[in-house]
Order: sequence, then structure tokens, then C-alpha cells
Amino acid sequence: MSLLLLLFPFSLIILLYTFYHRLRFNLPPGPRPKPIVGNLYDVKPVRFRCYAEWAQQYGPIISVWFGSILNVVVSNSELAKEVLKEKDQQLADRHRSRSAAKFSRDGQDLIWADYGPHYVKVRKVCTLELFTPKRLEALRPIREDEVSAMVESIYNDSAHPDKVGKSLVMRGYLGAVAFNNITRLAFGKRFMNNEGVIDEQGKEFKAIVANGLKLGASLAMAEHIPWLRWFFPLEEEAFAKHGERRDRLTRAIMDEHTAARLKSGGAKQHFVDALLTLQKQYDLSDDTVIGLLWDMITAGMDTTAISVEWAMAELIKNPRVQQKAQEELDRVIGSERVLTELDFSNLPYLQCVAKEALRLHPPTPLMLPHKANANVKVGGYDIPKGSNVHVNVWAVARDPATWKDPLEFRPERFLEEDVDMKGHDYRLLPFGAGRRVCPGAQLGINLVTSMLGHLLHHFSWSPANGLRPEEIDMSENPGLVTYMKTPVQAIPTPRLPPMLYKRVAVDM
Ligand code: HEM
Repeated sequence: MSLLLLLFPFSLIILLYTFYHRLRFNLPPGPRPKPIVGNLYDVKPVRFRCYAEWAQQYGPIISVWFGSILNVVVSNSELAKEVLKEKDQQLADRHRSRSAAKFSRDGQDLIWADYGPHYVKVRKVCTLELFTPKRLEALRPIREDEVSAMVESIYNDSAHPDKVGKSLVMRGYLGAVAFNNITRLAFGKRFMNNEGVIDEQGKEFKAIVANGLKLGASLAMAEHIPWLRWFFPLEEEAFAKHGERRDRLTRAIMDEHTAARLKSGGAKQHFVDALLTLQKQYDLSDDTVIGLLWDMITAGMDTTAISVEWAMAELIKNPRVQQKAQEELDRVIGSERVLTELDFSNLPYLQCVAKEALRLHPPTPLMLPHKANANVKVGGYDIPKGSNVHVNVWAVARDPATWKDPLEFRPERFLEEDVDMKGHDYRLLPFGAGRRVCPGAQLGINLVTSMLGHLLHHFSWSPANGLRPEEIDMSENPGLVTYMKTPVQAIPTPRLPPMLYKRVAVDM
């Protein structure tokens, strides 16, 4: 009873506030919000599917209330263009949950920074220094090393007497490539030895990532209902400890690099070296350098592994496409050498396979939420300052108004019409578009294409024992990034001479 009495004034304020919003603004339509919680309990766990269903009912721009916070979701290419191009500047802030605010020290990094002078500076560092074609090319040997390590371990495991002819769970192999690639690129370290065993620093690294996820998830409800936060004060201590632990590990790695640079007299290409040598020139705080390094891990690790897992599921479901990609690889590469990224331009079908997978299964189907820094109109409706805006790029890329047979996995569609996927064509936006477009898009595409190319050139893939291709579970796991609900399992059959299955290790 006493709690109810306590809650009453809060509820009244929220109700009045929501009413005021609705009367003052011409908001997009959507499911009727309930008092206090809004639509929080109506949203199904796989959010982008739920929003797409609501878009069928209410139209391509909808309002969804998380407590008292308005989320606007757009689901077609015209509105995506309005959000990411015409109104880009007013919609380029970020909504920081309390955990994101803590992790990023209130947006001192790139991902969680609002659009402003700090963001512009850090983004410039990314564009002019970190993700240049020259640096990506210089880091190519790392990518090729890791992809060849993946091939070797799949080959060894598939030849193991206990496993011959049995299916492998692909996620572990893909995750290892993504983990090693991003940690080597960002931190200049391979935490895993040749046997796949992770060293002490690597274990600490993984523990920090896991702890960050746990802390981030623990606040979900209070996140959306500001006054409820009083009853759920942040686990300040847990956050502080997490931050200290992350800083300690990162600083130790930074110190190792500084010492190596002083000894050798030259900087390496890894992001940590680049950032340390540019720190003064760009006036970057230590928090920003650490934040940027961890942004790369957060944004670049799962996304690439997820994309390849979905692509492999589609290729196993569609043997015709798998065979056609292999014919192209055999014609262009042959069976006396392995693929390198330099072959991509001669492998148009392989590139289309990667693109078609990213069309049907973008790993971040709602991108990252943008936030309005001013009152703005989209699709004729008002978006009040402070609202979050999401582009449902999953729904946009399956819209029957723009795509023929949208649900069919048919890479040929991109041979018939070349559609850009790096933010210039609003029908296909796996990397977003506009000023917050993914800075790692080209790196992501190279990695996904290279992993797929190697998997297809070296092996034929069939479904796990007893499963028919059409029975592969293609449903999604809920979350900001979209893993397959059931990890894909498949049987690899080697198709090249044994000497081509050796890892080509590079020390850099
Ligand atoms: C297939 C792989 C990838 C996909 C599909 C992807 C997709 C995306 C998307 C949709 C966004 C949000 C854009 C927006 O808010 O409008 C994003 C942001 C970002 N991505 Fe990626 N990404 C991938 C790989 C990578 C890689 C490999 C890196 C770096 C190593 C990376 C670094 C970032 C960063 C730092 C941001 C934040 C940009 C900002 O807020 O300004 N991504 N990515």
C-alpha cells in the first residue's frame, strides 16, 4: 500500500508528460502505450521482427514507447534516406544507456559520443588514420593468417578419427577468426597459441568482455523508466571495478607497445600504435584512446562472425548457390594455391554471396539507435528532441516494394543490378549511412568475403547428419546483434590437395 502511494505522484507526472507530448506533437502512429511502461511489455524479444509486423499495421514510421522514452522506427528506403541523409545532422546523437555512459566515460569514445566537436575529431582520426586503404592493406597479412588458421583447424578436426564425416559447430571457428583478427588489429597481440589455447592476458580480456555484457544487461528495466532508477541505484562499485580492470589491461598493452617502439625506433600498423603516436597531434585523452580501442572490439568482433554464420547457413540451404560459388573459385583460383584478398575483383559471384547474406541477415538489424538533438520532422510527423530513431535495415532490405522475391537467397540479383551496401543506396544498409556510417565497413566486407571464399574453396558443406537443408533453423536470437538462435552445424568435405590446408602464420 505504502509503495503504491509512493508511486502515485510519479505515475501521474509521467501520464501528464506523455499526454502533453501527444497533444503538442503530431507523433507517428503505433501500438497504444500503457501508462508508465508504454509498450515495453508489447515488444516481442526479436525486436526488429516485431517492429516490422507493427509497420504492416501502422505504416512505415511508428512510435514505440519504452516507458517515457519515445522510439521512432522507420522501415522503408525513402524514410531511411530522410533519417540518414536529409535530417542526418539533427539525428546523429546517441542514446547512452547508463551502462554505455559508464563504459564510454560519457561518450569519450566514438560509438557512444554525441555528434559534436569531440565526435568530429575522433571520426577524423578513424577516417584519415585508422581505416585508410593503406593501413587496411598493410594489415592484410594478419587477416589472411587468421583465415588460413581457421581452414587448418577445420581440416584437422574434420580428419580426426572421432569426427570424420560428422558435423562441426561452425560458430567456434568463425568466432576465433574474428577474435584474433580484431585483437591483433587493435591491440597488436595474438592472445591464442597455435593449439587454440588462450594466454593469461587473453583470458583476462575475454573475462572483461563477458563482465561488460553482464553489467550492461543487469539494468534493463530501470533503464527505460527514469524515476524507477531511484530504486535501482547503479552498481557503482561494480562499474568502477570493471573500468579499472579494463584500463589496467589496456594500459599494460599500451606500455608494451611504447617500449617496443622506443627499442625498434619505428611504429607498427596496429591501431594501438597508430593512436599512441597520434595522441598529441589530435589531442586525444587517455580515456579516448582506451575507449576507441574497445569500440573496435565491441563493434568489429561479433558482427563479422555472425555475418559469416548466416551466410554459411544460407549456402548449406541452397546447394545451387554453393556450387556456383565453388565453380567460380575453381575457375579463378584453381587447386594449386589458396585465395587472397587480391583475387576478390575476379570473384564477382563470391562478392554477391556476401552481399546477399548481409541483405537478408544484417548483424545489427536496427543499426545503433540515433537520437534527435532538435525537434525534427520525418515523413511529415514530429520527432521531438531527445527521441531515439531506429532504421529497421532488416525490414528495408526485405521490402517487397523494392526487392523482387525478397525472401529468396539469390546472389544473382546483384549481378543484374549492382546495389551499393556502404551507405549510398538506401535499399541496402547493413552498415548504416550518413555521418555515423560504420567506419569499419570495408574491413568487415573484406573479412566476411575472405572467410566465405576460403570456406567454400577448401570444403564442400552439407547439413548435419539427418537434417534436410530446408530444416535448418533460420530463426534469430534476441539482442542488439543478431546471432542465429541455433548455431549452424555442417559437415565439411575437403576439396583441395592436403598441402593447401596449412596455416600461413605471420608475425606482426
Ligand atoms: C559485417 C561487419 C559489420 C557490420 C554489418 C557493421 C555494421 C555497423 C552499423 C549498422 C553501425 C551503426 C551505424 C549507425 O549508427 O548509423 C556500425 C557502427 C560502427 N562500426 Fe561497424 N559493422 C561491421 C564491422 C565493423 C568492424 C570490423 C569495425 C572495426 C574494427 C566496426 C566499427 C564500427 C564503429 C567504431 C562504429 C560506430 C560508428 C559511430 O558511432 O560513428 N564495424 N557498424
